[in-house]
Amino acid sequence: MNISNLIESSDAPARSVRGKVRLRGLTKSYQIGGRTLPVLVGIDLDIAAGEFVSIVGRSGCGKSTLLRLISGLDRDHAGDMWLDDVPIIGTSLDCGMVFQDSSLFPWMTLRSNIAFALQGRADLSDVEKTRRVTDAIDLVRLTEFGDAWPRQLSGGMAQRGAIARALVNEPELLLLDEPFGALDALTRTYLQRELQHIWLRQRSTMILVTHDVEEAVFLSDRIVVMDAAPGRIHRIVPVPLSHPRDPADPAVQRIKETILTDLVGD
Ligand SMILES: Nc1ncnc2c1ncn2[C@@H]1O[C@H](COP(=O)(O)OP(=O)(O)OP(=O)(O)O)[C@@H](O)[C@H]1O
Ligand SMILES: [Mg+2]
Repeated sequence: MNISNLIESSDAPARSVRGKVRLRGLTKSYQIGGRTLPVLVGIDLDIAAGEFVSIVGRSGCGKSTLLRLISGLDRDHAGDMWLDDVPIIGTSLDCGMVFQDSSLFPWMTLRSNIAFALQGRADLSDVEKTRRVTDAIDLVRLTEFGDAWPRQLSGGMAQRGAIARALVNEPELLLLDEPFGALDALTRTYLQRELQHIWLRQRSTMILVTHDVEEAVFLSDRIVVMDAAPGRIHRIVPVPLSHPRDPADPAVQRIKETILTDLVGD
């Protein structure tokens, strides 16, 4: 089934009702050489369940820091965060994360890498775990490669493997920090379409950090444009276009130009 069928089909999954994110006054500083470096200041943001939001901004404006805070990996901050009205105070299986480099363990097959994420899930039977791993591998279209070692996968395949590993716990929120940044343009375009396909299937909330404004416009419901030094929200740009989008569509290009002007000026 292709993406347009998925959108039009009445079988398409209903919008998720979980995965709502709320940030209030989120503020973060680092200590560098005895100096306090304010990185994020007063971030207020509401993301609806099932929404796809991208974050763009100059290098160093705090995008990765923001994702790490939302993921609960970094807990030293001011301000408050909630996932579905539950305060975020640490990492959780409800929130998956994908980094720029696939970070698959080289000593495990793809299947074992993905199964590893289910370690400690005493609530799942072995049969259910096997089913989830197989489903995740199928979802990212690596069905034939479950027994492959990471070194036997291309960069794009390894990145799809990392997405499968992040999805196997069925998180309601998926955070992606430049997941396609290290890939060539063709693979990148392919994986953008794959990610959209996965989002349309899963309907989990996704927050994508990207340097690629066209990627953001292609995928997102809304785009958060950040200012730097210290990082704060400059503005939020809605993308009121139906999926699938055509990168050559003048409406897509107009939104892209607006955001580029914000980022780099006229
Ligand atoms: N662990 C750390 N210790 C000290 N300073 C840090 C740490 N991590 C990030 N910073 C600082 O925080 C600021 C924001 O970094 P961050 O990695 O969030 O930026 P970014 O927007 O993701 O940049 P890029 O687009 O280059 O990935 C930078 O000034 C950086 O030096
Ligand atoms: Mg970063």
